[in-house]
Amino acid sequence: MTHEQDKLVVEPGGRLNGTLRIPGDKSISHRAVMLGAIAEGTTEIDGFLDSADCTATIGAFRRLGVEIDGPQARHVTVHGKGLHGLRASSAPLELGNSGTSMRLLAGLLAGQAFGSVLRGDASLSYRPMRRIVDPLTAMGADIRPTSTGTAPLVIAPSRGLHGIHYDMPVSSAQVKSSLLLAGLYASGETRVTDPGRSRDHTERMLRAFGVRVQAHDATVAIVGPSRLRATRVGVPADISSAAFFIVGAAITPGSDLLLPGVGINPTRTGILTILRNMGARIETENAREEAGEPVADLRVRGLDGLHGTDIEPELVTLAIDEMPIVFVAAACADGETTIRGAAELRVKESDRISAMCSGLVTLGIDAIESADGATIRGGSLRGGSVEAAGDHRVAMAFAIAGLRSAGTVRIRGCENIRTSFPDFAATARRAGLAVRAEGAAVA
Ligand code: S3P
Repeated sequence: MTHEQDKLVVEPGGRLNGTLRIPGDKSISHRAVMLGAIAEGTTEIDGFLDSADCTATIGAFRRLGVEIDGPQARHVTVHGKGLHGLRASSAPLELGNSGTSMRLLAGLLAGQAFGSVLRGDASLSYRPMRRIVDPLTAMGADIRPTSTGTAPLVIAPSRGLHGIHYDMPVSSAQVKSSLLLAGLYASGETRVTDPGRSRDHTERMLRAFGVRVQAHDATVAIVGPSRLRATRVGVPADISSAAFFIVGAAITPGSDLLLPGVGINPTRTGILTILRNMGARIETENAREEAGEPVADLRVRGLDGLHGTDIEPELVTLAIDEMPIVFVAAACADGETTIRGAAELRVKESDRISAMCSGLVTLGIDAIESADGATIRGGSLRGGSVEAAGDHRVAMAFAIAGLRSAGTVRIRGCENIRTSFPDFAATARRAGLAVRAEGAAVA
């Protein structure tokens, strides 16, 4: 299997039909490896996302002395070392494009008796790290970013952490999770208050590993030190990957798509609310719970077309990774869509507000940036050549736009699709998108 997709080329037209199997949830896959590594016993993970980001997490824990089998047919076995069983890596931990690996590992490693160095690629080395460095330092960690507050992060051997009560200035599951993982090693209570409603996979999974986690409204707390018991984790299909096809079906009349086993954790379903507010027909069938996470089959039909909407900041948090494809939905809707309170999009794998607006303008859409959002007037898309800026979700969003464009859409800078959805092009072709990859190799 090859995953290089430097450039995607999408021919116009088509619709999306059939049953599509979407790969496993990225956030949950990362966490399953991390918690499995410091648990006592053997953790079995099914439905694991075999992508570059999750492989970076596996690679880091192997360097830290953890034996991990797989991924093999979406299965991973983690031979846990217990809370204090990790050992120093002889080389820096290379985390590629993965912000989740870097920020969560920083918390987990801040309380170890050995030092670590965490490094990322050019994009990750540009993203803000003080948001974890400052509270971890307040817990007693010695963790140093560069002078601009970015990776590499140099973590010194711990002389002991203590719990803190932290009010996050920005809603972020990565910051919250980083502090909770550090809190496993700290004395006393680590308590984090979220100004929004960021994803709660860490809290749910810590409980599944036997850790007592208290959650009240916007506050979550654990008392350290706390040991973990290995368990079995079933990873649902990633709603963030499903989102491309949900929007694709919703914007193309005649589409009828079934996506089985998609995670519908309420901290992740903002995309469904936004699209329903725009008039999309999405049904959730066979709702169930798997390993503490709600899951359902999603059926999407392209019936009446979409209309513009105002997207409030609270909904943005619940759809933070889906906003690039929301820009495409807005471009294909009747009327105007406004997005507010989305400044965090500027510090993701790329500046997603800027990348989406400039690409949509190239495709003939009136899309105007604001500091924390955009106003997009739906219209007719024409063909053109757009830049994904090395951002996987921007690349996939523009590929879906090809369904409604009048001419060929060429997307440069798609190589990082492998970070979250290595088989995107093949999956999309199976559903009915006329997409092909050009570049180093073809998926
Ligand atoms: C993630 C949290 C979010 C999200 C990222 C994955 C996680 O980031 O955008 O893709 O797994 O915790 P922030 O915490 O920066 O909002």
